[in-house]
Amino acid sequence: MKQDELYLGILSGTSLDALDIVLVAINTDGDVHHRAAINWPLPLPLRKLCQQLCTPGTNELVRYGTADRLFAQTAAEGVLHLLKQEQISTDAVTAIGSHGQTVRHHPDLSPGFTLQLGCPHTLAALTGIDVIAQFRQKDIALGGQGAPLAPAFHETVFRSPQSNRVIVNIGGITNLTLLPADLSGAVIGFDSGPGNTLMDDWIYRHHQQHYDVNGHWAASGQVHPQLLQLLLSDSYFAKAAPKSTGREYFTPQWLHRALEHFSAIQPEDVQATLAELTAQSLCSAIAVTAEQHQLTIDDVYVCGGGVHNQHLLSRCAALLPTPTWQSTASLGVDPDWVEGALFAWLAWCHRHKKAPDLSKVTGASKASILGAHFPAG
Ligand SMILES: Nc1ncnc2c1ncn2[C@@H]1O[C@H](COP(=O)(O)OP(=O)(O)O)[C@@H](O)[C@H]1O
Ligand SMILES: [Mg+2]
Repeated sequence: MKQDELYLGILSGTSLDALDIVLVAINTDGDVHHRAAINWPLPLPLRKLCQQLCTPGTNELVRYGTADRLFAQTAAEGVLHLLKQEQISTDAVTAIGSHGQTVRHHPDLSPGFTLQLGCPHTLAALTGIDVIAQFRQKDIALGGQGAPLAPAFHETVFRSPQSNRVIVNIGGITNLTLLPADLSGAVIGFDSGPGNTLMDDWIYRHHQQHYDVNGHWAASGQVHPQLLQLLLSDSYFAKAAPKSTGREYFTPQWLHRALEHFSAIQPEDVQATLAELTAQSLCSAIAVTAEQHQLTIDDVYVCGGGVHNQHLLSRCAALLPTPTWQSTASLGVDPDWVEGALFAWLAWCHRHKKAPDLSKVTGASKASILGAHFPAG
């Protein structure tokens, strides 16, 4: 019998909080088994450099080139650390699936594009492991949004013929995947809007904390109904799928433009309103999609850092009480490592010439092999 292969998946999402580095074993059927993972910090100067590259500025090309290599160096350090900790040699790992750091995501420009930094050549050279990277570009080239890619993985890992499930990933941005119990039904997925990004920016501005632990600060404020209504009136929320977005759209400036319409709102009330924005835009996206596809949602499973925000989750469960809201942990998958494992699995797909069909999700014209191979040797 053929042995399982080891793959690493590396992701730094829109929150720019840290690199998720996940080691998985994948068998010949494509079943993924978690082996180990670490959260590898992004040094503050690199984090700032990446954040600044998300909006227009001077001398972008030089800053991009620098960040591209620094990011890969940091990722390589994290990979070597994890493998040493697990006493696994680099030779034992078939490949690294590396997402890199998105600094611009503009699928709707003409022509559309998406840009991730984290030089795959550098990562391959420093680790001695083959790298598969640039997963989103092929989907864009085929007319797709390039995002979200997670639904194909969610389908493999979480789909059940017993219940209509929704998988929600609350990172900087929130994306959802609808998995109908009827296995002939198409998998639907899209970005519903902001996840944590606006809340993270706002608490950093007022309390210099990277995030609102358990949503305590948001819970201490009152939702400002008019501000909420104005934010929800953004055309992104009503737009039909396929659609995807990023932190370069839901920026602090996006919030400030709305705040200018009101005289001083207490900072904690703004935070409460931002949590409500994430909860309402997500719940209404689930409700509208379920209605369009004439499905009753039985269960919602949440992953990504937002799963730790108890205030946010209790608001979601209150807004949409019919399905049960749980963490993906109840399906045996740690919610913090789902996205990292996705990129390990995408690397496996590339190596085995499997073409995930994202056409119904991203709008790409056909299923295709995603990513490009950067050999270490
Ligand atoms: N205990 C917590 N309470 C509230 N929010 C949390 C907590 N832990 C993590 N988060 C949120 O999750 C975010 C990171 O989520 P993650 O899934 O890594 O996002 P991304 O994929 O965008 O990097 C943090 O920036 C923070 O907003
Ligand atoms: Mg993260």
